[in-house]
Amino acid sequence: MDSQRKMSSDASPSFQPIKRVVSEKEVKAMVLADKPPAQALRVALVGLGRAGGFHMQSMRLLGPHVVKLAWAIDMNEARAAEVGKEFGAKHGTKLTEALADPEVDAVIVASTTDTHFAFCKEALEANKCLLTEKPISHDPKEVQQILDLAKEKKVPFIVGYQRRCDKNFRRMHELVKGGVIGEPRIIRCTSRDNPLPPLPYLETSGGIFHDMLSHDFDMLNYLTGQIPKSVYSIGHCYVPEIKAMNDVDTVVCTLDFESGLLATVDTSRVAAYGYDQRVEVFGATGMVSMNNETENTVELATTEGFLKPVAEWSFPQRYKHTYTIELADKNMPEPKMHFESGCNTPKEKFKLVFKPRK
Ligand SMILES: NC(=O)c1ccc[n+]([C@@H]2O[C@H](COP(=O)([O-])OP(=O)(O)OC[C@H]3O[C@@H](n4cnc5c(N)ncnc54)[C@H](O)[C@@H]3O)[C@@H](O)[C@H]2O)c1
Repeated sequence: MDSQRKMSSDASPSFQPIKRVVSEKEVKAMVLADKPPAQALRVALVGLGRAGGFHMQSMRLLGPHVVKLAWAIDMNEARAAEVGKEFGAKHGTKLTEALADPEVDAVIVASTTDTHFAFCKEALEANKCLLTEKPISHDPKEVQQILDLAKEKKVPFIVGYQRRCDKNFRRMHELVKGGVIGEPRIIRCTSRDNPLPPLPYLETSGGIFHDMLSHDFDMLNYLTGQIPKSVYSIGHCYVPEIKAMNDVDTVVCTLDFESGLLATVDTSRVAAYGYDQRVEVFGATGMVSMNNETENTVELATTEGFLKPVAEWSFPQRYKHTYTIELADKNMPEPKMHFESGCNTPKEKFKLVFKPRK
């Protein structure tokens, strides 16, 4: 595998803005209510890498009268200064400074995974609305601590499992929940990343289960509302550098549920043909399946056969609009968001954007 070439092509810490593949008008129609908010939500964004980049893109799309970047924070001071300048925001290397600022309503945590717990705790203790990238922590006790704190503080709290905001997953959810295919019996998920993430990212990611498969486990729960009673996994590692981290890059997982439902997830850290995310739910009276979104929909037919376009390149392209919807959805259809925090209701999400805390 040409892992070095793939890694170096994606190794730059600075994020390349996503091309505007959905128009500003379309995104605004998806997320904004009829009346504009009385006051913009003022956000402190910590972590200005790839994930920080897609949240900045959402802010650009929503516009400063809806969401305004008040603080750009990164341990890389030059990066923080650069983003601060672009958005006319204050900048710094510590979240603590921004939390002391009364002009901050909400915090978005998009720094490396090993920093999430401490930043979430600090933000909630300061009574700020919170959107954190997944996962909250690798330690279930710490996860519980954050959920308890969010309940106690009664502030809007979102964990960024953005697939729940994707139109395809939402349609599947609607059909499964609506009983259209009867009781789900088998679910097959294919979840293959592309390109191979940078090695420094993988070192702090917590491993393929916390970093990648947590999205698929969340999706199984979103589609069925069920929690598995047992999970069996086998893995293999093709990339020596990942093996040296005591991690794997290829996994097949089977999950067994109380209802009789059986599920499989197959995962790879890289897929040569683009970002590969497919799901099939087989039920007692039918089946729903979801295919990849491709770069375009043009199919070429010649005497050689049929040629279809490749899948979209990676998560910023495939899930582009979901990051904006996750921040500011006007019609969040599913009240049970990512954790039973008691704070993740659509109403509160609505408030997050339209009624910022004073
Ligand atoms: N939901 C998704 O689709 C998705 C996609 C990518 C990443 N993520 C999540 O986002 C998080 C960040 O991933 P990424 O790909 O953007 O990583 P990245 O390495 O590109 O960026 C992380 C940034 O955080 C900064 N940082 C690290 N520690 C810090 C600290 N203590 N204080 C301030 N800044 C700090 C780094 O300097 C860097 O700029 C990860 O937890 C990952 O799980 C989610």
